[in-house]
Amino acid sequence: MKTRILKELKKAGDYVSGQELCNKFNVSRTAVWKHIKRLREEGYEIDSVTNKGYRLTASPDILSVDAVSSSLHTRWLGKELKYYDCLDSTNLEIRRLAEAGAVHGTTAICEEQTMGKGRRGRSWLGEAGCGIWMSFLLRPDIAAQHSSMLTILTALAVEAAIGETTGLQSQIKWPNDIIIDGRKVCGILTEMSMQMDEVNYIVVGLGINVNIQKFPEDLKDKATSLQIESGKKLYRAPLAAKVLEYFEKYYEKFLKTEDLSEFADHYNRLLVHMDQKIKVIRGTKEEIFLSRGINHQGELMVEDDYGRKQTVLSGEVSVRGILGYV
Ligand code: BTN
Repeated sequence: MKTRILKELKKAGDYVSGQELCNKFNVSRTAVWKHIKRLREEGYEIDSVTNKGYRLTASPDILSVDAVSSSLHTRWLGKELKYYDCLDSTNLEIRRLAEAGAVHGTTAICEEQTMGKGRRGRSWLGEAGCGIWMSFLLRPDIAAQHSSMLTILTALAVEAAIGETTGLQSQIKWPNDIIIDGRKVCGILTEMSMQMDEVNYIVVGLGINVNIQKFPEDLKDKATSLQIESGKKLYRAPLAAKVLEYFEKYYEKFLKTEDLSEFADHYNRLLVHMDQKIKVIRGTKEEIFLSRGINHQGELMVEDDYGRKQTVLSGEVSVRGILGYV
């Protein structure tokens, strides 16, 4: 109920009478007042004027269920939303929830992540109050070899959500790093659980650096945040909700073909290394290629100095710019 009242106040952007809220949600005036009181305690600034009602004047930058759900317009993704002050890793939490029978679309988000996982066994900083550390559960009926395409969809969803909520234009480094001004602002980690030869479930996790003002010395040339790039502090909950909305939309489109035919051109336009030389790292072996963008399976098409073409798979390589990170 508290979430629905908050959603209504956000939608109105103006005064909403207490009576209107009572009628809409079929509750008493005292119940409405209690929810308003609780929202105020959580940091929402709500003006109340006799004969006019309630008006939301400021929201705190929190990622509570109320904060995210009241901005969320999805049919199934994030409808089951779990918020935690502190977690080891949202990917691990979604795995635990999945094993306990959680439904498709269940989402976990936390303020602080102490053992965040990155790709290739790396760790991921998840400091309190300054990022979006979020994972969701998919139980798709797709072939296991198609699951890496979900990472590509996630990258597109993050790019679109950042653009819409902040006005910042980001790019993508294949397969799934979101880049602004040559530095990484978001990383995505997709993990799959198999049973026999079939996909049991998939965990999609993403970390967006939002209100980080400074990075440690070893990361400062490679990492950035939305605050650094936009010059302002940003609200995280509407951005998290937008990522979920775009992902749901793209995922439903993807399921019609189970390939990236609808997305590859758009993705390639956002690719930071499109038609540029890149370093492809396989274990200890490094090779230079010309990047030609992804195909409909999400593989990166590359060309060597003799124009010979090949494709690379996301699980097996790392890609770098020839002079640095991108
Ligand atoms: C990368 O290496 O680029 C992927 C980083 C993914 C980090 C996110 S933060 C939320 C989710 N939970 C995790 O443990 N990892 C992902």
